[in-house]
Parts: sequence; structure tokens; C-alpha cells
Amino acid sequence: MPDVPAPADRVNILLVDDQPAKLLSYEVILRELGENLVMASSAREALEHLLKIDIAVILVDVHMPEMDGFELVELLRQHPRFEETAVIFVSGIHLTDLDRLRGYQVGAVDYVPVPVVPELLRAKVRVFAELYRKTRQLEKLNAELERRVAERTSALELANARLRESEAELQQSNEELERRVEERTREREAAKADLLQMQKLESLGQLTGGVAHDFNNLLMAMLGSLELLKKRVGEDEKARRLVDNAIQGAERGAALTQRMLAFARRQDLKPETVDVAPLIEGMTDLLRRSIGPNIEIETRFGPALKPALVDATQLELALLNLGLNARDAMPDGGRLRVCVENATAPRQGGAPDALGPGDYVRILVEDSGIGMDEATLARAVEPFFTTKGIGKGTGLGLSVVHGLVTQLGGAMAIRSRAGQGTTVELWLPVGKERPAMTEQPAPQAGEQRRCRVLLVEDDALIMMGTTDMLEDLGHEVLQASSAAEALDVLEKTTVDLMITDHAMPGMNGSELATRCRQRWSDLPIILATGYVDFPAQVSGTVKLTKPYRQAELAAQISALVPGAGGGAASLVA
Ligand SMILES: Nc1ncnc2c1ncn2[C@@H]1O[C@H](COP(=O)(O)OP(=O)(O)OP(=O)(O)O)[C@@H](O)[C@H]1O
Ligand SMILES: [Mg+2]
Repeated sequence: MPDVPAPADRVNILLVDDQPAKLLSYEVILRELGENLVMASSAREALEHLLKIDIAVILVDVHMPEMDGFELVELLRQHPRFEETAVIFVSGIHLTDLDRLRGYQVGAVDYVPVPVVPELLRAKVRVFAELYRKTRQLEKLNAELERRVAERTSALELANARLRESEAELQQSNEELERRVEERTREREAAKADLLQMQKLESLGQLTGGVAHDFNNLLMAMLGSLELLKKRVGEDEKARRLVDNAIQGAERGAALTQRMLAFARRQDLKPETVDVAPLIEGMTDLLRRSIGPNIEIETRFGPALKPALVDATQLELALLNLGLNARDAMPDGGRLRVCVENATAPRQGGAPDALGPGDYVRILVEDSGIGMDEATLARAVEPFFTTKGIGKGTGLGLSVVHGLVTQLGGAMAIRSRAGQGTTVELWLPVGKERPAMTEQPAPQAGEQRRCRVLLVEDDALIMMGTTDMLEDLGHEVLQASSAAEALDVLEKTTVDLMITDHAMPGMNGSELATRCRQRWSDLPIILATGYVDFPAQVSGTVKLTKPYRQAELAAQISALVPGAGGGAASLVA
């Protein structure tokens, strides 16, 4: 006996016949197949079963009352679910070829004649049952396969997503690590650059100082010889001019070496206790004139300001230098703010590293100008570093200021960003005692006369130097930085004397002198000029060759204004 399917694998076989005896005989024949046999005694009953359970094979009698086998199968085939269901027709009566054809047309798949040969019937049913079972199994396997593929795909997708996630995490932590390494490297580089910069300034200072010192001595020797030579050339005007020219060059060289010495902190300083606020107040006029009307100057003084221990003249020069830098940084105008306050290092933020702990007077010079990019800021203090072009800047301004405050025991710090202005901080040591109030002695009878002098000069530094000389001689000085300004002053005030520079933009000194002659015929005028080929003299004026010494200035003044003059120290303008 062939194998019987396991209970779970059994398929349903529907036997349809209106005669119970025949149904029974089919049942007996097919029982040994081991499948489920379902009996129906009419087409209607068969339909009921078909709708309820899955049928593998239908064994149907062709001739039945009501609906015959063909009609039943025809009806079934209209439904997609039964399109493929195997049907075996059984016919007890003789079938014509036409009947046979009809059977196949409705999709019947086989045909068993009566009398039924049991082996044949069993064999046919088994084949169809087996086909059905295999088809179902295949379908199941397919579904399982699809399920597994889907499962595997989603597992893979999940794994992929996780991988991507952890890749992103890895990348993130890598980036974080890289960022930190970069940050540390940057910090280290910055610290190294600061250190290098300090060392560089230090060694540049030593070098410059040494060179400047030697040069200064050489220049002094040259100047001494030239002065002597000048006396010897006597009346030879041309030779005198040549010597003057040489003296002028040597003196310019000496002024430059002075600045270099200042940077090298080898200046001859006279530190004294100075109240900084009045010093700044006193020079705002000069500042205003040097930086022009487009820049607004603002001063702010903190409460209970301590005095500073500084060289007043050098501090003024330093502030003037900072003011000029600010002017150059604000070609279209802007604001210059000078603040003074008491400050403590290192508690107060921004105290320069080089500064020892203690109390200081801090001056802030702040402009709203173009500022500096990192590269410029890093080199700004270096001597001879300038962005102003050949002949325009020496690049010594900030180095001199730095040298000065360092020599005084203070420090300088610069804060700046491109497009965001610049702030220079000068930290100055506090002076030990208040400056003694020295009363000016009243002039005695027979003493030299105090003159009111109008000084016309477009160069702020020379203006300052000459003003110092004149004030030192006991004169009162009114300042004008152009010929037009000078005429303005003369309209409003009476002066004893006018000293004017020759080379000035707009109206020059000679033109100014000529104009003055026409209106104020007896006004004494001194024309100062550095030019060898001086233009035709204006009557009633005397010439003073630049650079002049205080003694020369005093001599010229006393020559023009009887009673004015005085002994004088030597100073170079
Ligand atoms: N207030 C400022 N705003 C913007 N840049 C500045 C300022 N001060 C200085 N600098 C920059 O620093 C450089 C060096 O300044 P420093 O005063 O030493 O020399 P300089 O002004 O170029 O020449 P000099 O002072 O001899 O006229 C300047 O050329 C400029 O680039
Ligand atoms: Mg400068």
C-alpha cells in the first residue's frame, strides 16, 4: 500500500452523486488513499461544501436531477477560486463524444467511465490530490521564502541604519577630537607667537639701541665739526648754505636716533610726579589741530585720579603719536576718546602680562577707525613696521611709545580688530607724591619782556617743540596750523610777533608774511624755513633756518622785539 499522507497534509476530496449507494462505493474505493472524503448528494449540497472548505478534487456524477454535473462545474468555473479545481466526471450511461467535449469545455480535467475500475479511480484521484498538495506546499514554501527574505531585508536595513548612525557618531567624535586638537594647537601657537614677539622686540631693542647709540655719537661728532666749520666759512653764503644743509641732515638723523633710543628704552628720561588729566587737557588743543576738524575728541577722567610717575614731555609726545595714528586710521573722520583711570594689575581685566602687580594710572586712547587685522596687530609695535608706505611712516611711533612706558616701569597693550577701531592702553606707574605747586616768580623790573607770539606751523611735532622753547623763554604762545588760521587769529587779537613756517599747504609762509605786511605793517615776522633756496625776502621779516636752536630763536626774537629774549638752553626743533 502506498504511503498515506500525515493528517496535517491531508486534502479534501468532494464526492458528488445523487445515489447513496454509489457515494458509498466511491468512499470505499478511495478510503485507502488516506485523504478526507466529503460527501454531497446533490449539486446544491456540493456547492455548500465548496464554499466552506478547500477542496482538492471533485468527483462528480454527470447525471443528477435538478443540476447535472456539467452545469455544476460550469457554475463553479465562473468563480476565480475554482478556476483550477480538479474535476473528475463519472458517468453511468454511455457518453457521446459531444458529452465528452462538453466536459472538457467546462475545464474538467478527467473522466471515469462506469463501471468504475477502482484502481483507475484511485490512481486518478491520487494524482490530482498529490498535485494539489504539492502546489499548496510550494505556495507555502514560497510565502515562507518571501517572509524570510522580507525579514532578512528589514534586519539588514536596521543593521545598515545602525551602522550609519554609529558612523555618524564616530565622525562626530572624530570632529570633536580634531576641533580640540586644533584649539589646543592654536592656543599653543598663540602663546609661542607672543613669546617670540617679546623676544624679537627685546633683541630688536638691543640691536637698535646699540646701533642708534653709535650713530648718535657719530652724529654728535659731525654736528660739532659742522658748527665749527660754519664759523670758518665766514661770509661765503653758498658754503654756509651747504654746511647748514649738512647740519640739518645730521640733526634729522639725530632726531631719528632719538626715537630709536626711545624704543630701545635707552632714553634720557626725567620721570616726575605728574597729574595726567591736566596734562591731557593742556594738549587737547594741540591734538585737535594735529588730527583735524573731522575727528571729534572726547576726554574722560575717572574719579580721584592718582598722579603718574612719568616724563611729562615724553608722555605728551607719546599721546601725540597715538593721536596721529588714530588720525591716519580715520581718514573720513570719527571719534578719538582719551580716558584716564586708576587701575590695578593683575586684578583688572586686560592688564598686560608684562606688568607687575600693583596700582597704575591707565590711559586709554581709543579710536573708531579702520582697526588692524591680526597680522598688522601682531607686528604694530615692531620698530620700522609700517603700513603707511615709504616716506609716509617711519614705523617708529608705537615702538617709541612702547619703549617709553616700559622704561617708566609700565606697559602698553593694544586691542584692535579690522573695521572695529583700536584701543591703546598705557599703564603708567603711580607717582609717589603730589607735584609741588611751584609759584611763578613775578617778573622783576628791568627783566626781559614777555611777548605774545603767534606760531604758525603745520607740523604738530615741530609746533610742540617750538612752543616748548618759546614758553621756556617766558613767552605766551598762540598756535595756528595754517596761514588762514593765523590770519583769523590776527583779526581777533594783537600779538607782539609772528613766527611762521614757510612750507605749508595752501598759502605758504612768504605769502602769509606779504598779506600781513599789507594790514599790520609793523608786525615783526620770523620766517622759518628748511629750504636752501629761500624765496625773495619780504620786507621787515627775518629768516630762521630750520632746525633752529633755542638760542637762535631767542636771538631773532630779541632782534625784532626790543627787550624780549633771554638766556636759553639748546633744543632742536
Ligand atoms: N590707531 C591705529 N589704527 C589702525 N592701525 C594702526 C593704529 N596705530 C598703529 N596702527 C598700525 O601700526 C603700524 C605701526 O604704527 P607706528 O605708529 O609704529 O608707525 P606708523 O604710524 O606707520 O609710522 P609713524 O608713527 O612713524 O608715522 C601703522 O603703520 C598701522 O598699520
Ligand atoms: Mg605712528
